[in-house]
Amino acid sequence: MKKIILDCDPGHDDMLAIILALASKEIEVLGITTVAGNQTGEKTYTNASRVLNLIGRTNIPVSRGFDKPILRELVTAPQIHGVSGLDGANLPEPLGLKTEKHAIDFIIDTLLQSKEKVYLVPTGPLTNIAVSILKEPKIKDKIEKIVLMGGAVHDSNFTPGAEFNIYVDPEAAKIVFESGLPIVMVGLDVTNRALLTFDDIDYLESINGKVSSVIAPLLRFFANANKEFFGLNGAPIHDALAVSYLIDESILSLKYLHVDIETLGEFTRGQTVTDIYGITKKQPNAYVALDLDLEKFKHLMIDAIKFFDTL
Ligand code: BDR
Ligand code: CA
Repeated sequence: MKKIILDCDPGHDDMLAIILALASKEIEVLGITTVAGNQTGEKTYTNASRVLNLIGRTNIPVSRGFDKPILRELVTAPQIHGVSGLDGANLPEPLGLKTEKHAIDFIIDTLLQSKEKVYLVPTGPLTNIAVSILKEPKIKDKIEKIVLMGGAVHDSNFTPGAEFNIYVDPEAAKIVFESGLPIVMVGLDVTNRALLTFDDIDYLESINGKVSSVIAPLLRFFANANKEFFGLNGAPIHDALAVSYLIDESILSLKYLHVDIETLGEFTRGQTVTDIYGITKKQPNAYVALDLDLEKFKHLMIDAIKFFDTL
């Protein structure tokens, strides 16, 4: 079983990353850490707890991390996730929070205490991960891999040059990508194709289970926003696709490439500059996802939601 810490900014697709990880027999979630991104630090923290309440898993510790990027001012994405960060349905109150430690102390303590190596799965800006590595470099020996949602080779969604998570905290991303740790980069090239379509959302609504009946309208909100802004025919489940790789590696096709993070560009802040043809001859630093098995992913995702209906 793979041990993971999920570092997220819920967020509709972060919510499904939590659900997929906690439904899986292949994964043990040691804890959830939150970061400001899709919404403020306060909102992403309480949203993580609301999701755990929805699926009856308040035993999972949740630690709040940074409220802003390392150097930049926080930018959020209310146009995609709403003013709450999880608009579209009423989630349960954020009761039963288990930890008060700061996220970076949770990450450092958990890793140092773990006998086995742990997977870090960041699905928001990389602030918490970067600062944890800087504060306690010894944790590097305890990290099996960083499987992150962020960036893209060819695609973008927040500016013409950048994906949201990397755009928000490019300095943190630079620290992580230059850390020497094994990185799997699950970016928009694949996640924009990891769609739950409007038909899939209708299906989830028709089940009318205690969890699916809440998830369906949330996903409808998210899908409508993605249709309006990007012309997508449904909800791109970016963050859960990163989790799915830990359950079934055959879902993603990866290529080992060199990725630089743009922190200085006039128009390209946060771009993941990927040397797809090996032009620079720089040593690769990331396994970059270039293709996906959509059907396998969809089955996993829908089954995970249905799993919590039955509990
Ligand atoms: C990423 O940005 C956020 O809005 C989503 O939760 C996802 O992590 C996609 O660019
Ligand atoms: Ca996210």
